[in-house]
Amino acid sequence: MKISIGCDHIATDVKNHVADYLKRKGHEVIDNGTYDYERTHYPIYGKKTAAKVVSGEADLGIVICGTGVGITNGANKVAGARCALVRDVATARYAKESLNANIIGVGGRITGIGLIENIVDVFLETEYKATPENTALIDRINNLIAPNEQAQDEHLFDEFIEKWNNGGYPAQ
Ligand code: RB5
Repeated sequence: MKISIGCDHIATDVKNHVADYLKRKGHEVIDNGTYDYERTHYPIYGKKTAAKVVSGEADLGIVICGTGVGITNGANKVAGARCALVRDVATARYAKESLNANIIGVGGRITGIGLIENIVDVFLETEYKATPENTALIDRINNLIAPNEQAQDEHLFDEFIEKWNNGGYPAQ
């Protein structure tokens, strides 16, 4: 499979570990960054990772920040993304099987690396059950977000990066 993956600066090590794990299992990885530990903003990478999934360039996506919350929310703002914040194997299975999640988010500072590997395995292995109920509900959810111009804007979060650079945020 082709997996789109992204993280913020808090979770770069975890993202690199997951990318290597996937490659060892024979998957192709599109690494959308971030690539180092310089402070940045999670929605940049949530959006980049999700865009590759929604466009069909990747089959599935994985997003990682400190808690997983921020980057999951960012990914879900891309029309067509169905990103589930996952902290356990049962949720990973449910998200794929019933909700056809095409991306999962995990918290690099919350969930241990062994459990993240198990979550990733289950997410990739589980098949979506396209029952009429599941499909109707997902269609309804998809239609909540209309495609918009901001989703194409590479500089959408520049002002936040500038704020980081000017010391506008407390250190994290
Ligand atoms: C750091 O920006 C931190 O807020 C982020 O990694 C994440 O935990 C947000 O949900």
